Amino acid sequence: MKKIKILDKEFEIFINKKEIENALNKIANQVNEDYKDKEVIFLGILNGSFMFASDLFKKLKVKAKITFLKLASYDGASSTGKVKRLIGINEVIEDKNLIILEDIVDTGITIDHIIRQLKGYEPKEIKIASFLYKPDSDKKKIPIDYIGIEIPNDFIVGYGLDYDGYGRNLEEIYKICDS
Ligand code: IMP
Ligand code: MG
Repeated sequence: MKKIKILDKEFEIFINKKEIENALNKIANQVNEDYKDKEVIFLGILNGSFMFASDLFKKLKVKAKITFLKLASYDGASSTGKVKRLIGINEVIEDKNLIILEDIVDTGITIDHIIRQLKGYEPKEIKIASFLYKPDSDKKKIPIDYIGIEIPNDFIVGYGLDYDGYGRNLEEIYKICDS
């Protein structure tokens, strides 16, 4: 078993390049079919989605633009703790078909924040494409329109996903070893 170490943790290979490629093709085929005669703006959520967004975008044949957004944390005087504000919207998204590109939907809290804020810009439609999805962890149950691969609740790194900032460069996806 291929193992790697990032900082203090050991990870083992979990999803290989071929499986990543198949999942990308599955999403690309669905999007190409669904948006054959429509125009889309893809919104990649930084940092984690940069690799997925780039690889998927190369496979798309639809009339499309892509832009990247980031959730900036700031300490608001909110009882729920950290408030996250979506930054980087410089495209006019009013009345447009949007597809959000996420690396992973885990608890669903992030995607929920994103959707709520995007709705304020009055787009025509908001769809979600998430490369990975942890169904057992999802608290929000927001429908995800395009899912690459469903995975169990293990912590993973690689293909854009990080452990404390490291591991994003890995071409394959690794999961944390049981300790
Ligand atoms: P959520 O708000 O819990 O759905 O999580 C969303 C964000 O947490 C993702 O966009 C990732 O950046 C990060 N995340 C969730 N699960 C993992 C993981 O297993 N490894 C690395 N990052 C993760
Ligand atoms: Mg992310």
